[in-house]
Amino acid sequence: MIKLGSQSHKELFCHSFINSYQEYTPELLPWPNLDPISLERLRSIPFWQEALYTERKAGIMVSAFARTIEDPLLREAITLQGKEETRHGRLIAFLIKHYQIPIKEPEIAELPSNIELAFTDFGFEECLDSFFAFGMFEIARLAQYLPQPFFDIFDPIMNEEARHIVFFVNWVTYLQIFRGRGLPIFRSVHAFSHYARALAGLVKTFAGVGDREEQAFSATGAKTFMDDLTPELFFSVCIQENTKRMSQFDPALLQPRLLPRLSNLALSVVKLLPQKSNPVNQVKGSLTH
Ligand SMILES: [Fe+2]
Ligand SMILES: [Fe+2]
Repeated sequence: MIKLGSQSHKELFCHSFINSYQEYTPELLPWPNLDPISLERLRSIPFWQEALYTERKAGIMVSAFARTIEDPLLREAITLQGKEETRHGRLIAFLIKHYQIPIKEPEIAELPSNIELAFTDFGFEECLDSFFAFGMFEIARLAQYLPQPFFDIFDPIMNEEARHIVFFVNWVTYLQIFRGRGLPIFRSVHAFSHYARALAGLVKTFAGVGDREEQAFSATGAKTFMDDLTPELFFSVCIQENTKRMSQFDPALLQPRLLPRLSNLALSVVKLLPQKSNPVNQVKGSLTH
């Protein structure tokens, strides 16, 4: 067992992150030619503008945070994360341009004044967003919403986000123990309120109330891919995909636990409710339309 907060803990989470880096150039990936139906589907996905803004902002903020860090190994790892977030922004910008997706060019994000707190908030947000993004990605793939080459391009991006959240939960725990503040708790009211808002949005999405802006980003996206998506199927796929993506990490590393736990809880609640039909049949059904 590795001692959390120790030098060897730091070396393990930093080296695991640095050594699993993959080199690629977004503009040179094998972007497929799309038939008119797939092109229309790609353009109707509701989150490209938001994704572009979020990734660009993350690239700027994470890179700026890295420059403030004195510890050389932590700095190297977080510099790399900044590079990956910047590359996500470039990838989304290229996709938008290449497939002529109509968006409003987002404003340039400003650097926050407390950059460590911003990085901490961002890390908690990534834990939440990535958990649902893994499930949404698989739901889109099961529904054959776009041709397979698209999923081949985005699969490594999902893995990069998995690496970011594993790095983050280890970093935040390491730092709190190293600084003598004990076990990690939610330091940030902002991150906690983000979780609460997102979960409330999720409930609204499945209940079919609230406008689109208010509804959970991931669940709204997932419902774009599969009309008859049920909460049971959504949570089951999110849990399954999270387990799959987390299985690639060294078991000595900490992993994000809150969302899988809450989702398991949500799943056991929805399983108690009367079901319209078996969700497995609904996946099959969705593949035939
Ligand atoms: Fe990203
Ligand atoms: Fe990330």
